[in-house]
Amino acid sequence: MSTVPVIAIDGPSGSGKGTVAARVADQLGFGLLDSGALYRVLGIAAVKNGVDLENHGRLAELAQQLEIEFGKSGPGSVWLDGQDVSLQIRTDTGSELASRVGAIPAAREALHARQQAFRSEPGLVADGRDMGSVIFPDSCLKIFLTASPEERAQRRYKQLIGKGIDAILPALLRDLKERDLRDSQRPISPLKPAEDAVVLDTNDLSIDEVVEQVMDLARARLAG
Ligand code: DC
Repeated sequence: MSTVPVIAIDGPSGSGKGTVAARVADQLGFGLLDSGALYRVLGIAAVKNGVDLENHGRLAELAQQLEIEFGKSGPGSVWLDGQDVSLQIRTDTGSELASRVGAIPAAREALHARQQAFRSEPGLVADGRDMGSVIFPDSCLKIFLTASPEERAQRRYKQLIGKGIDAILPALLRDLKERDLRDSQRPISPLKPAEDAVVLDTNDLSIDEVVEQVMDLARARLAG
């Protein structure tokens, strides 16, 4: 069993977990694992390499071979096979592909060890759906962030409009609910809080407030 501390931050898309995880990792000087990015890259790589998502064997092989680099061209950047795919993986197509890939047990298994390899001194903040429940069950702190679908769709809408990208709120809400359903109803690693997770409802909280609460809990757990 590793003694390197892990802080797991799980939750549905739009719960703010990515931003919170990055800020907590920064404040603690810990490494960061954005596990969703791995699923996103795998989805994009499958399309690029002509691998049918129904061909679970080839998909698992691809997952093991992927040449992924994080942070190469700035914080949060993601490269696949020497190409910057940071923007491509965040498109709606990227989200849709990742959610479909995430429902395939062989793909999850193939990414399991890759995710655990991110654990290194002085510690790791890992964000995703099953960080606390499956990948790092011995995390010293497990957080599960929630917010209503309406609030999460609204956040995504503001984010897109802020970037000058056209968006339709009812369509965003519909897609988000569809993905939630697929992520929470799949038989393997469904989206749900680990039994010992602290559930934080972020509906009425700013990102700063959420970060503060997580940091208070993290400091207490790391000291103990
Ligand atoms: O966290 P995200 O929105 O980038 O994740 C995109 C998709 O990837 C999500 O719909 C489900 C899948 N995913 C997963 O199945 N398990 C994870 N640990 C992270 C993401």
